Amino acid sequence: MPTSQKSLAQAIRDRRATPSFDGEPIPASDLRQILDAGLHAPSGYNMQPWRFIVVQHPEQKKRLRAASYNQAKVEEASAVIVACGDRDGWRKDLDEMLRLGRAGGMPESYAAQAENSVPAYLSGMSYDQMSGWLNKMVTYATMSMLLMAEVMGYDTAPMEGFEQQKVCETLKLPMSYFVVSLLAIGKLSGPDKFYGGRFDMSHTVFGEEFGKPLK
Ligand SMILES: Cc1cc2nc3c(=O)[nH]c(=O)nc-3n(C[C@H](O)[C@H](O)[C@H](O)COP(=O)(O)O)c2cc1C
Repeated sequence: MPTSQKSLAQAIRDRRATPSFDGEPIPASDLRQILDAGLHAPSGYNMQPWRFIVVQHPEQKKRLRAASYNQAKVEEASAVIVACGDRDGWRKDLDEMLRLGRAGGMPESYAAQAENSVPAYLSGMSYDQMSGWLNKMVTYATMSMLLMAEVMGYDTAPMEGFEQQKVCETLKLPMSYFVVSLLAIGKLSGPDKFYGGRFDMSHTVFGEEFGKPLK
């Protein structure tokens, strides 16, 4: 499947939530480049609590579709990246985060502070607070993947229409995993989605404080 690079500005402008895909396989090297873009995303304390399950096998896509309100594009896509967060990721990964950081020049004062504040901050979170935290972190990474895929000439569709428990069962996810969204990737088949438009900047952006127009 040939891919052509677009500028990021063009990819952002052209992107639509793709309604239907042709299902052609994505070369493994392209998929890895897309995934790698996500793994370079920022995260709180660099804890990288995201986990991604890449679904490409036809039978598994069919099962995932059944867990996603029968949305056809789950099965039609070349690959579906199931973006998850691990509620317990920080417990397992704190030492590795510090090791990587030190290797990259993290000051000892920073490491000592993180070693205390990461458990203090994250262990005190309720289930809902942790879900909110994971939503934030995982979505940054997923958006990086979406944009990289679009720049590479692929089409994408982010999805929240799935049943949490069913997806967890289908993918045999550990109990600590929380599914944030699905990202379908492939090539558009048929007409693209209409452009739904965007609210005017004066409706959604303020300068300095709420209600003041941005100058
Ligand atoms: C987090 C998220 C979840 C979404 N879930 C679905 C979904 O389950 N099914 C679907 O058809 N579209 C889904 N969409 C696509 C939106 O409907 C679409 O982005 C929106 O209508 C704007 O259209 P555009 O992306 O083409 O500009 C989702 C988008 C986002 C960002």
